[in-house]
Amino acid sequence: MMKRKLTWIHVMFIIFLLVGERKTRASEGCHPQDLMGLNAFKAQIHVDTSGRLQKWIGYGCCKWEGVSCSNLTRRVTEVRLPGLLSTSDFILQTEMEGKLSPSITLLTSLEVLDLGGLVSLAGTIPASIGFHLPELRKLYLYGNNLSGTIPESIGKLSKLEELCLHENHLSGQLPWSLGELLNLNRLLMYTNRFSGPIPASLTNLTNLVTLDLHENSFTGHIPEKIGSLQTLEELDLSNNRLSGKLPVSLANLTSISVMYLDTNFLEGEITFPSSYGKMPSLEFLRLSDNHLSGRIPLAFGNLVSLQRVSVANNKLEGAIPSTIGNMLSVTEMYLSGNQLSGQIPKSIGRLSRLLFLSISNNQIQGELPSEMSSLENLQTLDVSFNRLNLSTIPKWLGEMPSLYRIFLAGSGITGSIPEFLQTTPSPIFELDLSENHLTGNIPSWLGSLDRLYSLNLSRNSLVSNIPDTITNLQDLGVLDLHSNRLTGPINQVFNIKSRFQDGSLTYIDLSDNKFSGGIDDIDKGAQTKVQYLNLSHNYLTGKLPVSIGNLNSMRSLDLSYNGLGLNLPVSFANVTFLQRLKLQRNRFIGVIPDGFLKLRKLRELNLSDNLLVGEIPFGKPLSEFPMSSYSGNKGLCGKPLPPCKA
Ligand SMILES: *[C@@H]1O[C@H](CO)[C@@H](O)[C@H](O)[C@H]1NC(C)=O
Ligand SMILES: *[C@@H]1O[C@H](CO)[C@@H](O)[C@H](O)[C@H]1NC(C)=O
Ligand SMILES: *[C@@H]1O[C@H](CO)[C@@H](O)[C@H](O)[C@H]1NC(C)=O
Ligand SMILES: *[C@@H]1O[C@H](CO)[C@@H](O)[C@H](O)[C@H]1NC(C)=O
Ligand SMILES: *[C@@H]1O[C@H](CO)[C@@H](O)[C@H](O)[C@H]1NC(C)=O
Ligand SMILES: *[C@@H]1O[C@H](CO)[C@@H](O)[C@H](O)[C@H]1NC(C)=O
Ligand SMILES: *[C@@H]1O[C@H](CO)[C@@H](O)[C@H](O)[C@H]1NC(C)=O
Ligand SMILES: *[C@@H]1O[C@H](CO)[C@@H](O)[C@H](O)[C@H]1NC(C)=O
Ligand SMILES: *[C@@H]1O[C@H](CO)[C@@H](O)[C@H](O)[C@H]1NC(C)=O
Repeated sequence: MMKRKLTWIHVMFIIFLLVGERKTRASEGCHPQDLMGLNAFKAQIHVDTSGRLQKWIGYGCCKWEGVSCSNLTRRVTEVRLPGLLSTSDFILQTEMEGKLSPSITLLTSLEVLDLGGLVSLAGTIPASIGFHLPELRKLYLYGNNLSGTIPESIGKLSKLEELCLHENHLSGQLPWSLGELLNLNRLLMYTNRFSGPIPASLTNLTNLVTLDLHENSFTGHIPEKIGSLQTLEELDLSNNRLSGKLPVSLANLTSISVMYLDTNFLEGEITFPSSYGKMPSLEFLRLSDNHLSGRIPLAFGNLVSLQRVSVANNKLEGAIPSTIGNMLSVTEMYLSGNQLSGQIPKSIGRLSRLLFLSISNNQIQGELPSEMSSLENLQTLDVSFNRLNLSTIPKWLGEMPSLYRIFLAGSGITGSIPEFLQTTPSPIFELDLSENHLTGNIPSWLGSLDRLYSLNLSRNSLVSNIPDTITNLQDLGVLDLHSNRLTGPINQVFNIKSRFQDGSLTYIDLSDNKFSGGIDDIDKGAQTKVQYLNLSHNYLTGKLPVSIGNLNSMRSLDLSYNGLGLNLPVSFANVTFLQRLKLQRNRFIGVIPDGFLKLRKLRELNLSDNLLVGEIPFGKPLSEFPMSSYSGNKGLCGKPLPPCKA
């Protein structure tokens, strides 16, 4: 009896539960198909560092974190689980490990799927996505470890507005020539897990506003009909392996605002805009690092909204069209690394908003047009390495109100460093006059350029000491004076009074000059952040200070071809980041300190042609360098040289 009664109560309880359950389900409103889809998605994720999926329990999936349902149908309409969580106080990068379950296609009312930036999320885009998610408007799968192709069926998602698949390992077929294959083997390890180009069916998505596929390995051509995406505002296909020509239809993208096609293998001519009034909203255009050829189209001048444009590092030729003077919104223009010729058009002076202009590494001739002097907002001017035969730096350049980064390398400048540089309206921050024909002194007024961060006067014919005033350059980070005929001591450089406690200099190249004298003690409080120091090919003498061990950021140290001598300081062992050490052709004596074995990052060592003796300390990395790293030292022995005699 007892038993039966209990069972009765039990059954009642279960019925009660079921009814309650149904009520709960109805009120929480989770459709069983959605529930199944979400649970199957969760089951494929083994790690969720955000802890969100852990709380996905029970039946009321509409209340789960990251899930939203329609009030009317109670179907799941949004799944938003971005990896980057931000509140007003913090930003947290979370990760999901596991595979994207194809069961996500059970959520047939889904409008937004945001699984962006989950870092480790692997798997593929379900092939049938286009047949099952007809309501999808936003698909964010960027910043993951997804692979495979974009399925052809994506072209059926006719409501899709945003497709963001960037920074994954999605890739395409690789029609590489053998030569390129050899180069790419290394890359393929990470990326070549898929095949297939950007599907042409994408061009059927006539509601698309954003298409972001950058940093994947897509191959093949840009779909010919891309121009039919009349609502497209942002197109980013950069950093892929796309080839072929720019589709003519690009000119038909009437709503386009951002177009990044850079860093691919695109070729042929720039075909847009086709006429005036086309692409009226284009603001940001990057075509750089491709194989584009032909001229910069005259019609570029019609891009009246263009703010930033880069066509750098292509094979563009011919003159810069004077119509660029009509791009009145432009603030940054990158034309470097092409074969542009002719003169810089005078009309450039009309670009009153221009902040940045780089035309370096082309074949531009003639003078800089004086109209440029009216570029009152120009901050950076780089015309290095053209066929400019400037002789002198035009005086108006020193009067440009905003200019503070000046690159005039390889510009045929003769005479001495012009004095007007000390009175520029904006204090000079970067100055590159390298590879010219400058003669005379490094003037002592240089020390008054107290905002100077980078100074490159290398490859000229300067004859003088480094002026003592250089110690006033409290922001100096990069100093390159190599290949001149400079004389005297070098220690002023280490005594530059930086505004920072351990200095601001990271790069010093004084090589290939006629500097003499010794290397003084390098105080702990002085310039000790240096990463690159090259004093080779000078007449330096004396011993290396023990304090060389204070240069504990050093990556590359070259003191070769000098007259430095005595023992190698034991303190070298403290320069633990050292990757390259070149001391050949000096007069170092004594043994190689055992402490050199602590230089575990060392990849290049040359101690040849000195007077070193004794056994090379045995072990990594010292024993693994070639013999020529040690040759020409009569007293050295041990691996890699012949063994020492007992
Ligand atoms: C759905 O209901 C919630 C709460 O009643 C309300 O805040 C929300 O605006 C509604 N959403 C729609 C799309 O009607
Ligand atoms: C991405 O997936 C590959 C295997 O497909 C795996 O080897 C790699 O570790 C994954 N990367 C991350 C960041 O999870
Ligand atoms: C675009 O859609 C039309 C009509 O549905 C279809 O006939 C065509 O094949 C689609 N185009 C592509 C490239 O998939
Ligand atoms: C551009 O659009 C025009 C008008 O809509 C159309 O006639 C032309 O064929 C399109 N051109 C391309 C290359 O798609
Ligand atoms: C550069 O100009 C100077 C004088 O302005 C001239 O003597 C010289 O021949 C020119 N050099 C080249 C390479 O055109
Ligand atoms: C200085 O200019 C030379 C010649 O133009 C160049 O090779 C070198 O890399 C430049 N130095 C730095 C630090 O950029
Ligand atoms: C140091 O300068 C010399 C002469 O300018 C150059 O040949 C050498 O490659 C430079 N060393 C390093 C490590 O860059
Ligand atoms: C290396 O650095 C440590 C800690 O700064 C210091 O105690 C030691 O004397 C240094 N060694 C040499 C050989 O300079
Ligand atoms: C070391 O320098 C000498 C002389 O400059 C050179 O012949 C030799 O090839 C160099 N060895 C290495 C490993 O760099």
